Amino acid sequence: MATKKELEGEVFYPSEQVMAQARVKDWDALAKKADKDFTGFWADEASELEWFKKWDKVLDDSNKPFYKWFTGGKVNIVHNCIDRHLKTHRKNQLALIWESEDGRETRSFSYFAMNREVTRMANIIKAMGVRKGDRVTIYMGRIPEIAFAMLACAKIGAVHSVVFGGFSADALRGRIEDSDSKLVVTQDGNFLNGKIIELKRTVDEAVKKCPSVENVLVIRRTGHEIEMDPLRDHWYHEMEKLPIANGKCTTEEMDAEDPLYILYTSGSTGKPKAVLHVHGGYMVGIYSTLKYVFDAQDGDRYWCAADPGWVTGHSYIVYGPLLVGATSFMFEGGPAYPYPNRWWQCVERYGITILYTAPTAIRGLMRFGEAWPNKHDLSSLRLLGSVGEPINPEAWKWYHRVIGKERCPVMDTWWQTETGMFMITPTPVMPLKPGSGTKPFFGIRAEILNDAGEPVKDGDEGYLVITRPWPAMLRTIYGDAERYVSQYWSKFPGKYLAGDSARRDADGYYWIIGRVDDVINVSGHRLGTAEIESALVSHPAVAEAAAIGLPHEVKGTGIHVFCLLRAGIVPSDALSEELRQHVSKVISPIARPEEVKFLDKLPKTRSGKIMRRVLKARMQGLPEGDLSTLED
Ligand code: PRX
Repeated sequence: MATKKELEGEVFYPSEQVMAQARVKDWDALAKKADKDFTGFWADEASELEWFKKWDKVLDDSNKPFYKWFTGGKVNIVHNCIDRHLKTHRKNQLALIWESEDGRETRSFSYFAMNREVTRMANIIKAMGVRKGDRVTIYMGRIPEIAFAMLACAKIGAVHSVVFGGFSADALRGRIEDSDSKLVVTQDGNFLNGKIIELKRTVDEAVKKCPSVENVLVIRRTGHEIEMDPLRDHWYHEMEKLPIANGKCTTEEMDAEDPLYILYTSGSTGKPKAVLHVHGGYMVGIYSTLKYVFDAQDGDRYWCAADPGWVTGHSYIVYGPLLVGATSFMFEGGPAYPYPNRWWQCVERYGITILYTAPTAIRGLMRFGEAWPNKHDLSSLRLLGSVGEPINPEAWKWYHRVIGKERCPVMDTWWQTETGMFMITPTPVMPLKPGSGTKPFFGIRAEILNDAGEPVKDGDEGYLVITRPWPAMLRTIYGDAERYVSQYWSKFPGKYLAGDSARRDADGYYWIIGRVDDVINVSGHRLGTAEIESALVSHPAVAEAAAIGLPHEVKGTGIHVFCLLRAGIVPSDALSEELRQHVSKVISPIARPEEVKFLDKLPKTRSGKIMRRVLKARMQGLPEGDLSTLED
């Protein structure tokens, strides 16, 4: 362990209590061991879980970059999330606690009860004709049934595709079509800030044009009036009573490399791409990272406040906590409704020990002041986490001081939909520097390269790449293997291109700077400039559009767009507002631009590419850089 004087900059050292409790006390020793024999490290981790049949080979790299892990192994992630615990003391421990947005309802499920719920849902999904390998789209809010639906699909070997409940009908339709889903699981509506979000109606609109969808399974949550198509739509609470729902359901034996889920995420070009994860390696990766980084132990009350609709929710709300046997808390609502103490109330009420959230939420809550958290007893907390975007040191320190009372280390975890698991992250015993995710996880190797593919000097900015495969890595882009290769493995052959820029300091700590491609990270949500621009040009008034991200106090980055109008259309404030609404409707309210500006001309290269960096520099009053390729 480094002594205080050896590390540069502002450093927070773990307390004696943290050291005493930590599973791994000597980070360096395990990191060295894992680095020397990374497949051995992952094999040891995999051995802590149950396999129907052990793997023949830990890593098969015979067809790079299509890496395979634990080949020959037979497994099912659900067996390790649920079935395995039923044989132990965990059977009657709580797996999931849920609270409704209004705080009037609490539901809790032991591991035994989880098994009952997931089995029932699996029987119903099967009864709808879904078989191993079929895709199921899940479009829901934060209620326990979203976890049951995901686990039920995995249990029978179906592939889930969760679409965040804030996406529009158009966005949902595109994802249902692309995945060719047979079944959509949804709920009548979702409560958000005291209002109802129309989930089922959005599904109705989306599936009108999706011939692959045979059935829609609807969970009743809000109880408001919706239309049910008698041939296509089924109420879950009615299906649940049928004898077919209540029999046994064996957990399907899967190959380690069989698909578990697809999840759409934005890239720099074209439409969102479906990242594919599998049963075996993904399970091992998230099990190991959650175990070491959040040090989750029996008796912990773990709360990841993300949405199950994003990868954070997949890995670290649904699958991860169950794999380590923790008690996970799920909250239906948002942090500040009806008052900005809603989260702190939950921490106090349920004795939350680990809280994992995003910088945007922290910054949002910071604005309301310390009095709100200070009203509550937060003494149960022992670890905090952050994810989704770089955390500014000011927010880090507020989180550490006001929420963690300087007692709880902050785990700033850098990772992506594609990586499936934490990649650059501290563990609780590491000295922390606010704003840095510290170092690569055990067995992971990262580098920072210049355009020519050479490592840059410490302190210099460059492209962040991962130079060794890891078990939870995406296996491909569903239906587009070429894009998998070109997007991630072509700029620097053999190295995984993350799309982020970063620097490493003299202590070997990594500092993520942000996306280097045309992806805008709004409140930790990824949006491609191409998607936003294509939404804008789908409006009859717009001929051409360019979208850029500019710093935003709470969201981290806000979207600003520039439009060139069609001949004869006059710019106005009303049109600007209409276009913001339009983007929000076509994609999602999270994509709503902060500002729409009208231009007569967009800066372009001679080959016709929009030079977004020029627009960005202009808006920020910064030097516009090399303009030699500008059209005129
Ligand atoms: O730019 C990085 C940022 O979020 C991107 C990944 O987004 P997504 O696939 O939606 O997954 C988000 C949750 C894992 C990354 O390329 N990012 C994520 N975590 C961090 C981060 N940037 C800095 N620090 C982080 N801890």
